[in-house]
Amino acid sequence: MERFVVAGGARLAGEVQVTGAKNSVLKLMAASLLAEGTTRLTAVPAIYDVPVMASLLETLGCSVGQEPGAVEVTVPAEPGCEAGYDLVRRIRGSIAVLGPLVARCGRAKVALPGGDAIGSRPLDMHIAGLLKLGATVEVEHGYVVATAPRLTGASVWLDFPSVGATENLLMAAVLARGTTTIDNAAREPEIVDLCTMLGQMGAQIGGVGTSTLVVDGVDALRPTAHETVADRIVAGTWAIGAVMTRGDVRVDGGRAEHLEVPLDKLVAAGAQVDVDATGFRVRMEGRPRAVDLVTLPYPGFPTDLQPMFLALDAIAEGTAMATENVFESRWMYVDELRRLGADVRTDVKHAVVRGRERLSGAPVRAHDIRAGAGLVLAALVADGTTELSDAQHIDRGYQGFVESLVRLGADVRRETVPDDTY
Ligand code: UD1
Repeated sequence: MERFVVAGGARLAGEVQVTGAKNSVLKLMAASLLAEGTTRLTAVPAIYDVPVMASLLETLGCSVGQEPGAVEVTVPAEPGCEAGYDLVRRIRGSIAVLGPLVARCGRAKVALPGGDAIGSRPLDMHIAGLLKLGATVEVEHGYVVATAPRLTGASVWLDFPSVGATENLLMAAVLARGTTTIDNAAREPEIVDLCTMLGQMGAQIGGVGTSTLVVDGVDALRPTAHETVADRIVAGTWAIGAVMTRGDVRVDGGRAEHLEVPLDKLVAAGAQVDVDATGFRVRMEGRPRAVDLVTLPYPGFPTDLQPMFLALDAIAEGTAMATENVFESRWMYVDELRRLGADVRTDVKHAVVRGRERLSGAPVRAHDIRAGAGLVLAALVADGTTELSDAQHIDRGYQGFVESLVRLGADVRRETVPDDTY
């Protein structure tokens, strides 16, 4: 287990670099399955989930070369079609191989990823969409098995703009016979990134960046080279950290246009945000004001920044209400925030946060990537020392988190400790 030991009282100042998005690169790696040959991805973050996805592709017969910042996936003429539980359960993003495999091989058998610490995450929309495209889908023995000698284009309406379902259906539809329309599609920048890469591979996709995607299926795609879009959640984390610590941070590579709502909220909290050609700078003097937030699919406030913003509201002047509309169990980490002295009450969808002048360091535990990052930000503004256990969750989504914090002036160190036996 990894443990981060964080001394409170830091002021984050300086420059931090943002690399490619976790939530994009895993899907881009899955998309490489759609074409025989070698696809090269750059701006690949050095995070735990990337080698896990690489191992999964290897079990499908691909060879994967990894170097700092890049991954090369070489896909055989006939990839394997079975993605086992051992790897799929470790990263939920691996469900993204379902669409490409059924499109490419006519059959896919992918383990159900199971739940996680932010709520139950069913696959009903993924499955309903594949059925519409003419696949036979069965869920048995913990696996989704989808079969279709050749998918056929269809009209698909998503009940909710699910990121994962939109991606799987896109990757299935690009090789289907005829035209597929995906209505109420997700519009996240990571979806646009996937569409861009698929377009480079020869896919015909209209309406990119809107909630109606129109895909004209083609017979085959070709491999490509593609640079992963910058991680807006990592960039947003640094921005919030700068405001909480009354600091001054330039986020190099951060795409402010992908963070309009969160950056607006930081301005409402009292921050100054300056956007330049290659990033943005966030400065804060004095104590932030409490700001309400409501999580929604893009372009709304991202659910993945909710824990960090709650940490900000925990030390802000005033009372804020946060509403979570995307994942029903995303308040599980709030008990840990309370251990740091935060005054937070929750019901199913809402959290009311009464800001306190300072928090107080305590031993806490990271339940997931984003909760872990939120707790680290809270620890930076707490009196004394915080020991964050299960910090390896943070390594799943943040490249060199501790090193970046230290460069920005924080007193943080990593310890590797033996796992608990129970
Ligand atoms: C992705 C991101 C995650 C982010 C989320 C929302 C990755 C690896 N993860 O997750 O970091 O928080 O988008 O921006 O990219 N749902 C169903 N049925 C389905 C599919 C989804 O009910 O078939 C529900 C989920 O339980 C959830 C909501 O829809 O409540 C949104 O999920 P979705 O957008 O699919 O998120 P993910 O793709 O899993």
